[in-house]
Amino acid sequence: MADSSELSKSMLDQLPTESFWDIPLYQWEGFWYRSYHLEATMALRSHFSSRDDDIILASPMKTGTTWLKALCFSIVNAANPDNETLAKTDEDHHRDPLVENHPAIYVQTLEVQVYSAKPPPDVSSMKSPRLFHTHLPYKALPDSIKTTNCKLVYIARNPKDTLVSMWHFFNKLRTPEQGPYPFEKAFELFINGVSHFGPFFDHVLQYWNQSLKSPDKVLFLKYEDLKRDPIGEVKKLALFLGKPFGDEKEVEDVIWRCSLERLKSLEVNKNGVDPWVGMQNSTYFRTGIVGDWKNMFSDEMSERLDQITEQKLMGSGLHF
Ligand code: A3P
Repeated sequence: MADSSELSKSMLDQLPTESFWDIPLYQWEGFWYRSYHLEATMALRSHFSSRDDDIILASPMKTGTTWLKALCFSIVNAANPDNETLAKTDEDHHRDPLVENHPAIYVQTLEVQVYSAKPPPDVSSMKSPRLFHTHLPYKALPDSIKTTNCKLVYIARNPKDTLVSMWHFFNKLRTPEQGPYPFEKAFELFINGVSHFGPFFDHVLQYWNQSLKSPDKVLFLKYEDLKRDPIGEVKKLALFLGKPFGDEKEVEDVIWRCSLERLKSLEVNKNGVDPWVGMQNSTYFRTGIVGDWKNMFSDEMSERLDQITEQKLMGSGLHF
């Protein structure tokens, strides 16, 4: 290998592979990756150095990443109006930067957007606090994220809605000729642990256990809790980030600014595309309904996944 951060073809050839929706995924250290995500992960692990005041968001796919990005960005910048990112996009400091760009522009995913660039970017000059996101399992994170005092915020979601959200998302990437991927096949892959950055339960449990061990470092949130009690959960999040709200009005304002209804209706999210792969911003905003799985699951599927969920989470203290 020319560079230790590069993933050689021969390394890839040695990894177990599975077809996920006709997309090859590679299994590395127990988790499934696209080849280019794995390559960026190697670069991230070689080059990224975390700082004590970094904020790292983490999630499996389709569990509320975009919502969490919007919320954390708004919380951090509400208390820090001179932040460079805000200043660049919002000259008078009064308008909301979320009007200008999809939340993923402000909080980039390390192994998807940041370290996919070649050569790897120098993020050391970014102003504190730096906000990043990752889909990586806890074990695969660069050591500095684990050893510095940086904060980690994780968002999980019940596995049934996660799978349905994933099915809708990946169907958007298919051509009309291909048509939607059979949901039964997607279900079998998911329950067998095969999905981007899966197995889902291993991913969730690694962060859950870490949040129990180090509650000051890792905050574990659930999509359903945020939906049920946004005020309570967003206050908890702000407190964890060291940016408590002054009054109830501020909390309500952030919740409104980051709400699905509002973000979905913004011009940038209706018609914009991401600058990396040209994906429509609208793909990230759908219904956000808790229990949407009922429209897709058969009774048998529901029972099977309930049993698997119970087995996997047994004794962990985690429930969906
Ligand atoms: P549904 O497909 O169930 O509607 P991710 O951001 O991790 O890709 O997750 C996408 C899911 O979060 C989608 O769920 C999407 O509709 C929902 N979502 C996106 N933005 C949201 C927001 N601001 N508030 C609540 N849910 C949101």
